[in-house]
Amino acid sequence: MNKKTLLDLAKTHGTPLFVIDHAELRKNYARFRKHFPRVQAYYAVKVNSDPAIVETFYNLGGSFDVASMQEFHTVYQFIKDLPAKDRQDFIWDKVIYANPIKPIETLRELDRYKPLVTYDNQEEVKKIAEHAPHAGLALRLRVPNTGSMVELSSKFGALPGEAVDLIAYAHDHGLTVEGLSFHVGSQCTNPENYIQALHLSAGIFAEAKARGFALQLLDIGGGFPAAYDASVPAFAELAKKINHELNRLFPEPIEILAEPGRFLVASAGSAVSKIIGKATRGDKLCYYVDDGVYHTYSGIIFDHCTYPMKSFKSGPKQICAVFGPTCDALDTISLAEQLPELNLGDYLYSDTIGAYSAASSTHFNGFPPATVIHINR
Ligand SMILES: Cc1ncc(COP(=O)(O)O)c(C=O)c1O
Repeated sequence: MNKKTLLDLAKTHGTPLFVIDHAELRKNYARFRKHFPRVQAYYAVKVNSDPAIVETFYNLGGSFDVASMQEFHTVYQFIKDLPAKDRQDFIWDKVIYANPIKPIETLRELDRYKPLVTYDNQEEVKKIAEHAPHAGLALRLRVPNTGSMVELSSKFGALPGEAVDLIAYAHDHGLTVEGLSFHVGSQCTNPENYIQALHLSAGIFAEAKARGFALQLLDIGGGFPAAYDASVPAFAELAKKINHELNRLFPEPIEILAEPGRFLVASAGSAVSKIIGKATRGDKLCYYVDDGVYHTYSGIIFDHCTYPMKSFKSGPKQICAVFGPTCDALDTISLAEQLPELNLGDYLYSDTIGAYSAASSTHFNGFPPATVIHINR
């Protein structure tokens, strides 16, 4: 995002400020569609559930991955006034409830919408059969998450060896399994994870077919990396490798879905904070700013991500620490940031901070989340 625009916005609206650039959202969505022409993109709402972001993807014809009733309702707001049939078609065609573990209350509420939901174990099949018998199912597989920034395979996913038995189990409970889903871990910079997941899935498609279950869809999940730094592999190259295997192993009419989150929103978000305190501790210059890890920088904790702090001013740089505004020492943005000598009231900013950031911001210590500003809507 343009530095001058960010600084002007901070001066106008105050700090802490979280700016979402909708032109960047549209650009990222178009890029995903261009490189994955066969893949239907379901925006993973958890990554940033701001209704304005959902609206932008809705207006582009996007689909949605929701993982809680609240996220479902955030999307539902945009279709609630459609004629009943169009509304139902939208949910069938463009919504997946992609949390393999669902509370009974959620299943009861979801049933009337007959959505596609994921599952990965027998207990979930029993729950779905009893409380949401009209749902369609996708079996979530456990696949390698090697090297991904956020590991998901220890929490979710059926083992490939039990997959077809779980499909048969759902069938025996009167449910229809439409296909498979997986997640290679978030910020996946190792293309091999996708390739191995596709190979495992192809084996399960074949075994399922041999046992009389025709699967029709494959959901390749999220994990598509944001370009945080130069070490992240080129998206076009990753897409080329994935598409090659998709076309070889899952020819049409098999439907291919994906649940990109980070890739679509990370680069669209920027944060601006103000220096509210300054001290020298053990020879190190320490800046205290009005945003931190309990707020927009929460991804440092929850997402295992780092966000370089940048200055609007130039000058000789030195290694500084940057702390958030709360009384907790955990509220540390960085212990080694290269910054010039700055004054109280000066601003710092980070870009590529749109994913898993404001989404997990809290009110801890009486400091509210940053003000959100949307540009280029
Ligand atoms: C089921 C599911 N789908 C999609 C996503 C989004 O992943 P990403 O942001 O890596 O694209 C997540 C993230 O945790 C997820 O759990």
